Amino acid sequence: MTLAPTFSRITGTGSALPERVVSNDDLAADLATRGIETSHQWIVERTGILQRHIAETGINTSDLATQAAQKAIEKAGIQASDIDLIIVATSTPDYIFPSTACLVQASLGNQTAAAFDLQAVCSGFVYAMVTADSFIKAQRARCALVIGAEVFSRILDWNDRGTCVLFGDGAGAVILQASAEPGILAAGLHADGRQQHILCTAGQVSHGQVTGDPFLRMDGQAVFKQAVKVLEKSALDVLAQANMTVNDIDWLIPHQANVRILNFLAKKMGIHPDKLVVTLDSHANTSAASVPLALDVASRDGRIQPGQIVLLQGVGGGFTWGSVLLKV
Ligand code: UT7
Repeated sequence: MTLAPTFSRITGTGSALPERVVSNDDLAADLATRGIETSHQWIVERTGILQRHIAETGINTSDLATQAAQKAIEKAGIQASDIDLIIVATSTPDYIFPSTACLVQASLGNQTAAAFDLQAVCSGFVYAMVTADSFIKAQRARCALVIGAEVFSRILDWNDRGTCVLFGDGAGAVILQASAEPGILAAGLHADGRQQHILCTAGQVSHGQVTGDPFLRMDGQAVFKQAVKVLEKSALDVLAQANMTVNDIDWLIPHQANVRILNFLAKKMGIHPDKLVVTLDSHANTSAASVPLALDVASRDGRIQPGQIVLLQGVGGGFTWGSVLLKV
């Protein structure tokens, strides 16, 4: 007897943002009290960011992840107890351990799913999707909850205007279920550890102390150049795997790092700017949460329609990058 092939399909999306919204003007006024100069104009012109959501003290990654998960579960029309795999992509976990995924599992009231965190910084959600897809294709899971969630505001040096204006907090989630129809059509994951220094938070907890540098550090221009270079190639690779071309893409959802990177990418690939989902203006860069947040926004506002082709792309620290091509 031959088994029917198993694919994985997104059956629900959800997202969550902290209540507190900090505009560029709010941020500039706050930084000015410490003698650091920035402006709404500089931030918009260089990045496209208008505002970000910042989690209040006491709100952690697991709280945002749980809220996003609850919405995805409701949208998929399943029960939390149906989930047999939980992956949380995050670089800002609540604790060193247990994993944020275990905290989410407990908050959801699920007692049977395998649960673990995955760390690939801003590529984390794409890495987690490919991992969950592989579990489903190998028939080791049938109903996965895949989350990208971050409180990057906690690892920012608020005295470094080159980085602190760029990031925000949030979470996005999807339910990925076994299906006779794809679903995920093609995927590719990549890393180049030689470039670890261009984007890093190189601190560690050791002997009861934080050693090294606990803040995010970035060579912005190096990251910018690298992101543009690798995203185009990664997109073309996954399209070729699926015997598709750029013209088949209905929606391009790259990691929301900088609107200049997104526009440059769309132009280089010959994709009309209207097919680009941009949430960076209101969320800023939420690292692993940015792609599922944008996916949820464009699904709920009716832009993404059943049967359409969507390309998700992550890129960030490590250096890591990857793409997932899917039919929704
Ligand atoms: O998740 C992936 C993570 N990150 C990214 O994808 C980021 C990729 N890189 C970028 O988005 C851009 O490189 C940045 C937005 C970070 C910076 O833009 P840029 O056009 O590369 O600016 P720059 O770093 O060359 O800085 C230009 C000037 C500098 O002043 P001088 O040396 O020309 O006098 C900076 O000191 O802008 C200054 N500057 C600022 N001025 C006002 C840097 N940050 C600020 C600021 N406000 N917040």
